[in-house]
Amino acid sequence: MKKIGIIVGSLRKDSFSGKVAQNLETLLQGKALVKHLDISHLPLYNQDFDGVIETPKAYDVFRAELAAVDSVIVITPEHNRTMPAALKNALDVGSRPWGKNLWNGKKYMVVGVSPGTLSGFGAATDVRTVLNFLNGRVMNQPEVYLGSVHTLLDEKGVLVEGTLKFLSSVMDAFVNF
Ligand SMILES: Cc1cc2nc3c(=O)[nH]c(=O)nc-3n(C[C@H](O)[C@H](O)[C@H](O)COP(=O)(O)O)c2cc1C
Repeated sequence: MKKIGIIVGSLRKDSFSGKVAQNLETLLQGKALVKHLDISHLPLYNQDFDGVIETPKAYDVFRAELAAVDSVIVITPEHNRTMPAALKNALDVGSRPWGKNLWNGKKYMVVGVSPGTLSGFGAATDVRTVLNFLNGRVMNQPEVYLGSVHTLLDEKGVLVEGTLKFLSSVMDAFVNF
């Protein structure tokens, strides 16, 4: 079975993006091995960490986990029309040191999430731009944008039936991709 990493671009405890991630993990059961790639402990990237001063342990852990997966689903909220800084930081950490870009050649799917109606489109577009630059292969279709996401989740954090059905077909498409 393929190993799929899931990255949640939010650090918030009750994050909608985190709840969406849990739903996707459930949908992938039996289809892929899923690993949550935690970005919350990564210090802000400083190029000195790669050669001048000691590399943070959290970088080593994240890079090892990223190296071990075949593909990654990135679930991004939107902060001021782009991805949250924590997610951009994780993309930078995985791209360095120079010549050791761990995003290279893997396959990606990007999910935009927002309680707003524009569904994190700006953030998802920017994540795709960075992943394409890093030589990732991003699945272009089907696209997933979950706007008004708070209306799609029940009190247990489970997505409504129609959305789950749609996402189930998207997970099949991604596993095939
Ligand atoms: C600094 C900041 C900027 C935000 N900018 C946007 C934005 O540009 N577009 C948007 O749809 N929501 C924006 N929001 C609202 C987020 O969509 C909302 O906080 C959402 O719950 C974050 O995702 P999460 O639940 O996964 O943490 C912003 C929130 C913060 C804290």
